[in-house]
Amino acid sequence: MNKHNPFVRINIPIISNSETWVPKVSSRRKYSYKNLRTIIPFILIMSMILNIYYLTRPKPLTLPQLIKNAYQNNPDAKKSDESTPIKINPVDYSKLTDLIIVPGHGLYKGSNSPLVEKNWDLTPVQKGNVEVYLSHIGKAIEVLQDQHSSLLLFSGGATRPSSISTESYGYWTAAEKLGWLTPEIAGRALTENFSTDSYENLLFSICRFKEITNSYPDRITIVGFNYIGIDPPGDISNSISGEKNNAYSHFEKDLYGCTKFLKKKKDSRNPTNLQHGYIKSCPELAGLLEYCPKDGKQLYEGKLPWTI
Ligand SMILES: *[C@@H]1O[C@H](CO)[C@@H](O)[C@H](O)[C@H]1NC(C)=O
Repeated sequence: MNKHNPFVRINIPIISNSETWVPKVSSRRKYSYKNLRTIIPFILIMSMILNIYYLTRPKPLTLPQLIKNAYQNNPDAKKSDESTPIKINPVDYSKLTDLIIVPGHGLYKGSNSPLVEKNWDLTPVQKGNVEVYLSHIGKAIEVLQDQHSSLLLFSGGATRPSSISTESYGYWTAAEKLGWLTPEIAGRALTENFSTDSYENLLFSICRFKEITNSYPDRITIVGFNYIGIDPPGDISNSISGEKNNAYSHFEKDLYGCTKFLKKKKDSRNPTNLQHGYIKSCPELAGLLEYCPKDGKQLYEGKLPWTI
């Protein structure tokens, strides 16, 4: 969630020419041997501190190496249609404590290369962003490889009228085709097949985590736009202002996204009226799942399986 700043800011004091070039008699004394004896160790210590800082500072977030490799090795993924069943190491799901969510934004159709936009089913606003969607997936997989107690959920429902597949399954298939689901992590990268907006991405994924592990997550990481510092290349002001007009400003008035505009949008993203079973599988969340205040703003006050 926090953005790492890969740059170190060093303030260089501005020295005016006259100061630099007019040697004053008094200032010469500063460079006497005696002074150098204190200045040099000081400089050495400072430089050692800087070196230690540079060697140990957190690595900056770049576009995942995974995706760069994918584009280099596999520009059109010609062989990607051969389906060899993936190998999955067994996982003890009851031991998993952390949840990583990748909210779906577009639908990969499932055949031919996921690196090519025509193999995705996208709305006009989603066009041009495939590389970013893939970088979200790649980033999440890197986190998954590092954190052995985490479960990755691709989250997103059957949002397109022209397809029976879900966004989450599309993302999963894309990851699989790119060879990212190695046996070590494949069992920990699964799908949440029903959500149609960001609120549901979060709530439904928490519930899906419960279905899989039989407990609620201790920690949640969301990899997506404006979350972990991955945005589309080029000008994203359109997507951001679109997001603001379409979602954020409406969620402000309708916290649970369940009335008017947001409800309509949600319904339009569920053309076949697919229904989830989370109320049964997560009875602790049933109240919240069905909650929809008339004024849009009254906070849910029922019991929840977590504290904030
Ligand atoms: C999610 O949806 C896809 C596409 O409809 C389906 O193939 C897959 O089996 C579903 N996964 C689960 C766990 O229901």
